[in-house]
Amino acid sequence: MDKIKIFDTTLRDGEQSPGCSMTINEKIRVAKQLEMLNVDIIEAGFAIVSEGDFNSVKEISKAVKNPTVASLARATVKDIDTAFEAVKYAKNPRIHTFIATSDIHMMYKLKMSKQEVLQRAIDAVKYAKSYVNDVEFSAEDASRSDWDFLVEVYTAAINAGATTINVPDTVGFITPDEMYDMISYIKNNVPNIHKADISVHCHNDLGLAVANSLAAVKAGARQIECTINGIGERAGNAAMEEIVLGMKTRKDKYGGYTDIITEEIINSSRLVSEITNFNVQPNKAIVGSNAFLHESGIHQHGVINNSLTYEIIDPKSIGIVKSNIVLGKHSGHHAINKKLTELGITVSKNDIRPIFTNFKTYMDNNKEITDKELVELALQTIKQSKIQSI
Ligand code: KIV
Ligand code: ZN
Repeated sequence: MDKIKIFDTTLRDGEQSPGCSMTINEKIRVAKQLEMLNVDIIEAGFAIVSEGDFNSVKEISKAVKNPTVASLARATVKDIDTAFEAVKYAKNPRIHTFIATSDIHMMYKLKMSKQEVLQRAIDAVKYAKSYVNDVEFSAEDASRSDWDFLVEVYTAAINAGATTINVPDTVGFITPDEMYDMISYIKNNVPNIHKADISVHCHNDLGLAVANSLAAVKAGARQIECTINGIGERAGNAAMEEIVLGMKTRKDKYGGYTDIITEEIINSSRLVSEITNFNVQPNKAIVGSNAFLHESGIHQHGVINNSLTYEIIDPKSIGIVKSNIVLGKHSGHHAINKKLTELGITVSKNDIRPIFTNFKTYMDNNKEITDKELVELALQTIKQSKIQSI
């Protein structure tokens, strides 16, 4: 089995989700949690974008020890200079430079010919290489680019010193079988491919980002770019927790492993959700609050006898510790808060009181409350207090 590197871009592409920007201190908290998760690379930001982004990349470079810290940079001298100024404090710095290679992007966005794009890619990689050894090159919109042009650009980028070549599905357009074929084509036709890792970066516009990433692993990709909870531009990026658990649960299919400490997954998901204010949908794979709840009597019966009947993942393996707290009408708000946290619901100080009041009313009329009922009661209460405060 081959090691698959996890490149986390929660703090760069994830932060590009509309309404998702984070302060520098929040980004440092997330970066430290990513280090606990043992990701291989943290893309800490896009240093040229703003002073705030520059400082975040710089401070994260100082704050984490083990992961490589990358900054994104367009294929220009100024972007690369700024990226280096920010990542130079990292123990393992990476510059990630990119230029678009699809006809539509070259014609309408860059207004550059293929030859000009090729030359710019070579110059950018060489320039980044003069600063750091670890250089990643991305062909933006690779999935809508001509495959032979991609082969030409990646070959030249590797000759110029790129140590990772990234294949982004920028607009979430590709399908898993096409991704498999494209990565195989690159692997078989780029003559110097043995000198670089193949990476993929998938967006979720058609809901296929994780499936496409796993298809790429099967074809030989050795780095996956992803985000916690799948946050990112538009419909988001591939969700890290789904990729990691997909590979772990179906190692018979994908033949790769990651070094992610899966027990840190739920903490990472909750932290990102709390900081960004982006709730995780209850039925979201792996980290949704319903992901390990069983409602139907038949399922409950099966799980009580043997959890493997309806659970393919042990909740403990992603850090969900189900306590033996039994909530009743005598329970206090601490117990309720703890139980909700275990169920994936982060409750603000303002919300816990009304939830507690509604819980008491409920328990006056019912003997017990299931996890699902408690989650519904809490979400309903939070919704009502939001409406009242408008
Ligand atoms: O989606 C994309 O193409 C990107 C690149 C800059 C890697 O985020
Ligand atoms: Zn992206």
